[in-house]
Amino acid sequence: MQNAAFAVLALNWRYLAFEVPPEQLATAIAGAAAMRFAGLNLTVPHKLLAMQLVDVLDETAKTWGAVNTIQFQGKNPAGVWLPLRDFESHSPSGIRSVGFNTDADGFANSLREDLKIHLPGSRALLLGAGGAGRAAAVKLAAEKVSELYLINRTEAKAAALAAEIQKQSPQVTVHVGYPPGKIDLVVNATSLGMKAGDPLAFDDHKFSLSRAQAAYDVIYRPAETPFLALARAAGCRTANGLGMLVHQGAKAFEIWTGRNAPFGVMRQAVEQSIYGH
Ligand code: ATR
Repeated sequence: MQNAAFAVLALNWRYLAFEVPPEQLATAIAGAAAMRFAGLNLTVPHKLLAMQLVDVLDETAKTWGAVNTIQFQGKNPAGVWLPLRDFESHSPSGIRSVGFNTDADGFANSLREDLKIHLPGSRALLLGAGGAGRAAAVKLAAEKVSELYLINRTEAKAAALAAEIQKQSPQVTVHVGYPPGKIDLVVNATSLGMKAGDPLAFDDHKFSLSRAQAAYDVIYRPAETPFLALARAAGCRTANGLGMLVHQGAKAFEIWTGRNAPFGVMRQAVEQSIYGH
């Protein structure tokens, strides 16, 4: 999707994928800076580790507690830090890495766009308290849901997350457990559903999807997980994590290039590459 966006805006840039072991992440970031890369994306398992490795944390990384996007900046003769794209004709006197997080906004944008959800005042059930679950929970609270229910295989992780959110966002009521009555949204933020034969991330004796208006799965491959298929059959509006993937990528594109992302082109490129249409 990034290369499709560069092409349509006639930018002579390239997006490349590199597999880096965690113990080499610091070296890889320093190497990219030395080669004057405009920036990087980081994915599992690097997002938490990068918090300690970048020179500066943007507010988005501080808020969501993870870095998925790095922008390299150079120091100009006046001592001002600017994106490296601004140094075509002269060399910077120093280079630094700035860590951003575009995942959380990508998640909320996708909920609004793909599920037409109005988050303020809504009741939500979140399945999962790992890396993705944590960011989703903090974002839902920041978007002012009124009640948030957390379920996780390892309940202690859900309890720790609930306590953290309750402290940060006292206006939200956070529970560990299943919600009574109807809810507006249920989100799967576990990895269950990626592999054929995975169980559901919730206990269907304790919760029925027919009580939810809308269901979101952060997984986008397969396009319809058993969770989403069941939700659709139960009458929920459903969406998978493709919109989140494209939104976080579009935001990263804008950080690196300073240009508006061609969202439709990026979405189409991802759909083509993942689903073949
Ligand atoms: P990510 O960054 O993708 O969120 P993660 O931090 O490893 O990855 O989190 C994976 C999530 O899927 C967790 O909520 C995990 O539950 P635990 O916290 O109990 O590990 C959940 N998960 C993974 N495999 C699972 C399984 N077989 N049954 C239930 N939950 C599972």
